[in-house]
Amino acid sequence: MTAIIPAAGKGTRFLPVTRVVPKEMLPIGSKPAIHCIVDEAIAAGADDLVVVISGEKEIIRRYFDGEPSLNGRIRFVLQKEQRGLGHAVLQAAEGIAGPVLILLGDALVTGPNPSREMVAVSRANGGASVIGLERVPKEKVGRYGIVAVERSQASLEAGGIARIVDLVEKPAPCSAPSDLAIAGRYLLDPGIFGLLATQSPGHGGEIQLTDAIRRLLATKPVYGYVYPGRRQDIGNPQGYLKALEAFDENGRS
Ligand code: G1P
Repeated sequence: MTAIIPAAGKGTRFLPVTRVVPKEMLPIGSKPAIHCIVDEAIAAGADDLVVVISGEKEIIRRYFDGEPSLNGRIRFVLQKEQRGLGHAVLQAAEGIAGPVLILLGDALVTGPNPSREMVAVSRANGGASVIGLERVPKEKVGRYGIVAVERSQASLEAGGIARIVDLVEKPAPCSAPSDLAIAGRYLLDPGIFGLLATQSPGHGGEIQLTDAIRRLLATKPVYGYVYPGRRQDIGNPQGYLKALEAFDENGRS
């Protein structure tokens, strides 16, 4: 299994510090946040890691160059233009033939390792793709990718699994199919790369990973899993402060 960590976003919600420090490099105890995410991916069984960075984020590569335990297991690719999450993931495609774990670089999850749990959910469902979900308040659905699931979504609580039947990126609250949001973790069939390569721009004029997964649904099963942990969006100061409360000095939750 290969893990991709998209970390090329601009960090505009966390200015001014992100003028010089990428949000992914903000410390959680003694480790930068992105190192906690790398630890999560490895604990879930990732053999190789690809981190997608922008030209301004070379400091992330420099940081991991000093981590001998990852030698030969981690590579870095540049996203030269900011054309969306789907475009960022596509930059990492080269040489990947097996399942792909995607962990958003600004989403820290406290509690049980969501990636490890998603690997188990996939195994129990014939190796199907799995998307980590969380419930969000109805008025906030427009900030997320929102899914529709096969069984009654009302019964889908923490730890719940259901087959996804539709996805929409950042819907208007009145047209959202549910309050189940895509929550920063994906375990996908490698067929996603071919779909991303032909994906036309969607919400915000960007190449959306959500739209490519919507097309994947036509040929492969995709499950949603409401992971029991809590996602903290460290792309803004409030989420970062909450993450600090939940992790210890060694960057463990
Ligand atoms: C991305 C995804 C979205 C997802 C969100 C949180 O949006 O496109 O589907 O719900 O991350 O994981 P972004 O926060 O990059 O705008």
